[in-house]
Amino acid sequence: MGKIVISLMSFSVTLCSNAGYAQRTAFEPSHPWPDNNGVHINAHGGGVLSHEGAYYWFGEHKIQGRRGNTAQVGVHCYRSKDLYNWQDEGVALRVSDDPDSEIVRGCIIERPKVIYNPKTKKFVMWFHLELKGQGYTAARTAVAVSDNVVGPYTFLRSFRPNAGRLPINLRDEDLVPGPNNYFLRDMETGQMARDMTLFVDENGKAYHIAASEENYTLHISLLTDDFLDFSGLFSRVLIGKHREAPAICKRQGRYYLLTSGCTGWAPNAASYAAADSIFGPYETQGNPCQGFNPENNSGPDLTFGGQSTFILPVQGKTDAFIAMFDLWQPRNPIDGTYIWLPIEWGKDNRMTIRYREKWDLSVFERQ
Ligand code: GAL
Repeated sequence: MGKIVISLMSFSVTLCSNAGYAQRTAFEPSHPWPDNNGVHINAHGGGVLSHEGAYYWFGEHKIQGRRGNTAQVGVHCYRSKDLYNWQDEGVALRVSDDPDSEIVRGCIIERPKVIYNPKTKKFVMWFHLELKGQGYTAARTAVAVSDNVVGPYTFLRSFRPNAGRLPINLRDEDLVPGPNNYFLRDMETGQMARDMTLFVDENGKAYHIAASEENYTLHISLLTDDFLDFSGLFSRVLIGKHREAPAICKRQGRYYLLTSGCTGWAPNAASYAAADSIFGPYETQGNPCQGFNPENNSGPDLTFGGQSTFILPVQGKTDAFIAMFDLWQPRNPIDGTYIWLPIEWGKDNRMTIRYREKWDLSVFERQ
């Protein structure tokens, strides 16, 4: 008799979890975020693609220990309809076992972002690549492609972009050699490309935004129509301001570029800048963060312990954006958590990102 009860009980538990017993209905920044298998989501430095009614979150797959700061697995993908509950879709781009491959296991793959090209019907992934054993000196951008959103993605190539090109906002002084003129130093061989994001504008044009010039200046580059290459058109923005971790959104015709300072894995203060053209000029607006993260005693001066990675437009709502930050754990990277917060817009179009211990999408209804 006892046996029957036990098996009935476990049956009902299984049923419950399959029927959504553990469904999440809110975001809890900084806390572990279980996927559909109850495993903490492994998609760091990520970005989200909205495609045909679902969201796809791509990010760096980390493993335990310091070695986890290098790519041992690849880029992980998750799928969601509601942004709270994510289904594990597995590894979208896998590192290679071929020692001659640029993405051989042990290289560094960071901040992967995926966009969809409606003309070619291809999903295009760009990411920051550092070649194995070379620290952060290669500073390359890399591209991979797939016919299916969740992959597998085929690695195409990596390179330093805009070789031999001049920016559209060239100034006389940019061509004067000097010890700090990294732009000119790298003009022939291609510009450095580290922390990056992608942005597709309303007219279908896609842009690659990356920390360049030893992280002193960001480069915003138009991609070719197939999104697989650089078009040669680019601008230098936030020149000499030493910003990285770019994330961007467009609201009411204006572009908002959120960045961090450059202190490696350690948090620092965020800042945002606004422009009327994607190529700039961007005017610095200050730190959008407000409030306090009680989990780590961090406020706006430390971006609540996080670093920006992406701004996610919530589908079906106007002016609704989620700012995504990583709370890095470089000693055990797999434990890194995520801080997702809603962006609030003030009267004079000012951006505020307030820390919230728990929140849901209904905040966008009250704006
Ligand atoms: C940060 C950067 C991360 C990663 C880290 C390595 O500045 O934003 O993506 O590159 O440095 O130290």
